[in-house]
Amino acid sequence: MNVVETPVIELQDISKVYQMGEVEVHALRGASLQVEKGEMLTIMGPSGSGKSTMMNIIGCLDQPTGGTYLLEGEDVSHLHDDELATIRNRSIGFVFQTFNLLARTTALQNVTLPLIYAGLGRRERQERAREALEAVGLEHRLNHLPTELSGGQQQRVAIARALANHPSIILADEPTGNLDSESGADVMAVLQGLNRERHMTVILVTHDPVIARHTQRIIHLYDGQITHNESVEEPLVARPEVPTSVDSAGPQEQLGGSAQQEPGRNGALSGAETPESRLTQRGGTR
Ligand SMILES: Nc1ncnc2c1ncn2[C@@H]1O[C@H](COP(=O)(O)OP(=O)(O)OP(=O)(O)O)[C@@H](O)[C@H]1O
Ligand SMILES: [Mg+2]
Repeated sequence: MNVVETPVIELQDISKVYQMGEVEVHALRGASLQVEKGEMLTIMGPSGSGKSTMMNIIGCLDQPTGGTYLLEGEDVSHLHDDELATIRNRSIGFVFQTFNLLARTTALQNVTLPLIYAGLGRRERQERAREALEAVGLEHRLNHLPTELSGGQQQRVAIARALANHPSIILADEPTGNLDSESGADVMAVLQGLNRERHMTVILVTHDPVIARHTQRIIHLYDGQITHNESVEEPLVARPEVPTSVDSAGPQEQLGGSAQQEPGRNGALSGAETPESRLTQRGGTR
């Protein structure tokens, strides 16, 4: 990582106050954070601590009440909605806990439809969507409806949709929250692959400490403030059940210094103490 590069994300003393009638809700209270290009990190914290608020600000879905947000060096703290939308289209891909796929719409269409807003022609939309679905290992599921896909596969369609715009940053708010541990491992393997192979910046929110240990850094939020910035010495490596094109590297070619993993079973989140405990440990924060 080149430390002299401009951080891709720089939050400076960010606050967010929601006005609920007479009552002010202080969702963020002076949070500062720098993220370098190509980092993969986690935001953790109890329910209501401000994680989604921070993700929404980072993703230009919402604006801070105070402080400055520099995205790729550009001050985006006070832009108009249409300017924010342009930046979102250019730089950010979102993944949500509940997948948010259109029902009665195939995987391929779910990925192509948003590309209409990027002003691409039909052929290019199809190409981009196929490529993105291939990147998440779903080239054999193009014409399946969401109901014909497993939870993990649905989330991978959602990741493909996020990728199709060729963003530089992926923001995933509890992407494994609705998944069993094996599907969660597939999703984490895809996200790690995007980070490792394509040098995408990946930020995720989770309540699960095992998921968090698959990233290089954990930001702890409490009551709207960052209380702890923890580096993960040897990030765990998720193994997908079916290798995807962004995750074809063997365990030897893992994130820096992370090769000492247990063999684990296919689809398992690695790093668990015993085969039984590989089941995702829920964070217990809510
Ligand atoms: N649109 C809104 N209007 C008013 N208050 C809000 C709004 N969004 C969030 N809040 C409040 O801001 C605080 C932070 O909420 P946020 O959604 O960021 O928490 P979170 O850490 O993501 O929690 P969870 O783990 O439950 O998803 C909470 O007290 C919440 O009630
Ligand atoms: Mg949230």
